[in-house]
Amino acid sequence: MRVLHTISEMRSARGDRFRAGRPAGRLGFVPTMGALHGGHRSLIRAARQRCERVAASIFVNPLQFGPQEDLACYPRSFTEDCTLLEQEGVDLLFAPTVEEMYPHGNAGTFVDVPDTSERLDGRSRAGHFRGVATVVAKLLNVIAPDEAFFGQKDAAQVAVLRALVRDLNFDCDLVICPIVREEDGLALSSRNRYLSEQERLQAVALYRSLKSVEDAVSAGESDAATLQQNLLHRLRTANGLNLEYAEIVDPDSLKPVNDVRCGALVAVAAWVGRTRLIDNVLLPPSSSRESK
Ligand code: PAJ
Repeated sequence: MRVLHTISEMRSARGDRFRAGRPAGRLGFVPTMGALHGGHRSLIRAARQRCERVAASIFVNPLQFGPQEDLACYPRSFTEDCTLLEQEGVDLLFAPTVEEMYPHGNAGTFVDVPDTSERLDGRSRAGHFRGVATVVAKLLNVIAPDEAFFGQKDAAQVAVLRALVRDLNFDCDLVICPIVREEDGLALSSRNRYLSEQERLQAVALYRSLKSVEDAVSAGESDAATLQQNLLHRLRTANGLNLEYAEIVDPDSLKPVNDVRCGALVAVAAWVGRTRLIDNVLLPPSSSRESK
């Protein structure tokens, strides 16, 4: 695996898609902030399956952290991350410094995806999705992949990035991969390592509450308000959880839906101690459920 720290090194390593010099085949790209786990691994494996060459990035992007958030103590494990990427057959790793990405101390130019960026996590994390959209736009420009791989785990991020790629005509397909979970259902996350033993047990309530919505829908309930009431009740009465939001929305616009028969995203965020966790399930349209 070649590790590139500067934009110019990265550009020459990836070759140019439209000129001689680009090695044949599709280039897949998996952006990350490091502290890699099985969720990241699944994205790399999906990229390996679909593309001849795979690039990953590790960059803890200051722009997407609020002033009170965990930027300074965000977990960093570069050596272990490189071992995992090497094992998974990643060809190129882009690992720039903050100065390389933001030489003027900030982005200078920002990318804003209005409305979508203010919903779900965007409501409490002001500026978060502006930071995500800006860094992803920069990374897509530097790496110029044919396909970029993201996890359904960050459902609001997916909605923002779909809008970014569509509205700014990025010549890149987004591939969204399913959530990888622990055996008891907790979604893998770099932030799970902050949890104490007791908090780790309490955290599973997030997934259980989402599962109960799926079960109610399978049993025939389709009214979003009824489903949301039950979800809120479960989460508010779960031990150790401090609920931030629990919403049933359209997965693209992130606007609330009244009925889930056309498909919907059920998304939750809660604090467990000092750790903020998110999780979600996608409800398929009822026509596709019936035809299974
Ligand atoms: P990070 O949190 O490192 O996540 C990198 C990618 O891994 C994201 O697309 C995320 O959705 C995916 N991922 C995380 N946990 C997952 C799980 N349990 N199952 C499946 N996929 C999972 O998301 C970011 O970094 C940043 O915002 C980034 C896009 C890199 C921009 O800075």
